[in-house]
Amino acid sequence: MPLPFTSFRLLAPMEGVTEPQFRDLVLARNAPDALGGTFTEFVRVVDHALPVQVLTRHLGTSRFEQPVGLQLMGADLDALAATARRAAELGVPVIDLNFGCPAKGALRGCAGSAMLREPRKLEDAVRACVATVGDRPVTAKIRAGFDDALLLEDLARAVEAGGAALLTIHCRTRAEAYCEAVDWSRIARAVAAVRIPVCGNGGIETHADFERMRRETGCAYAMVGRGALADPWIFSGRSVDAAEAASFLVEYAERLIAGGGASLAGAVARVKQLLRFWTAGELVGSERREWLRESEPQRLAARLRGIAKGLDATTRAASSTAAAVG
Ligand SMILES: Cc1cc2nc3c(=O)[nH]c(=O)nc-3n(C[C@H](O)[C@H](O)[C@H](O)COP(=O)(O)O)c2cc1C
Repeated sequence: MPLPFTSFRLLAPMEGVTEPQFRDLVLARNAPDALGGTFTEFVRVVDHALPVQVLTRHLGTSRFEQPVGLQLMGADLDALAATARRAAELGVPVIDLNFGCPAKGALRGCAGSAMLREPRKLEDAVRACVATVGDRPVTAKIRAGFDDALLLEDLARAVEAGGAALLTIHCRTRAEAYCEAVDWSRIARAVAAVRIPVCGNGGIETHADFERMRRETGCAYAMVGRGALADPWIFSGRSVDAAEAASFLVEYAERLIAGGGASLAGAVARVKQLLRFWTAGELVGSERREWLRESEPQRLAARLRGIAKGLDATTRAASSTAAAVG
């Protein structure tokens, strides 16, 4: 089944981050040939098909050339498949299944990475969704294993046997959580085990890493998570100045307040979540601690706005020059 991605570089699903407000800003800043698509954060399916309103809330209202897939996580196959069908009927271009979430809640419900212990169950979950979705690609995102990577090939083949159009493999095991070290040879093992395209994930930190991962592992797509929280321009490789970086964060906060219903304090807390990783524009530099320690949301917002104003001044100067020349 053809995949709708416009480039081999993909933005990973991230709970509490890749909601419409963040996604739209990243999609708007990276052209379709730089960023090929992204996903919603995982949407938990328990024992009944999720209502349309829940799905549309995660999908947002903006549409870009790049597809935004809906990621589902659940262990009740009827509910999962019924939700996948509802999503397909809504026109969702890709439905992704999460078999990597290490959270205790997911494990208790036998969803997320719990299925990494049982390739047959994982295969059944993929098959149930593929059967019901029809003409939309169903993709699956796994970790390299639960406690170790011994079942990696079995898991990759289970995803393929279930009929998935793409296997995304986060090369850390559940036990390794988000450890710094990554072993990309596990991605190469997945590539060797299946015929469907593989998307490698784990440890991409720079624009050049996308291509390096492809070269070193043979994966068709490469997906970044936290690297895009550090630098939302990582897909195009464009380097921005502090004003442009700050204006991203200001706009993010504004969107969280206007569209996401957050308070200023809530929005600034989300901005701080990005600032923990942020490298773009050398905005944070050696002052990361001070940024994160700022307890007054108004002050942090004002500081960002002040830096972003530099951008406004530059843009105004550029457009008045252009007008004078024109
Ligand atoms: C804050 C956060 C939230 C995440 N939420 C999800 C999620 O909803 N679904 C999912 O499949 N993976 C989730 N992940 C895992 C990422 O998609 C990705 O696999 C992981 O961060 C490894 O990539 P990286 O080394 O580039 O960060 C999350 C990761 C982070 C840091």
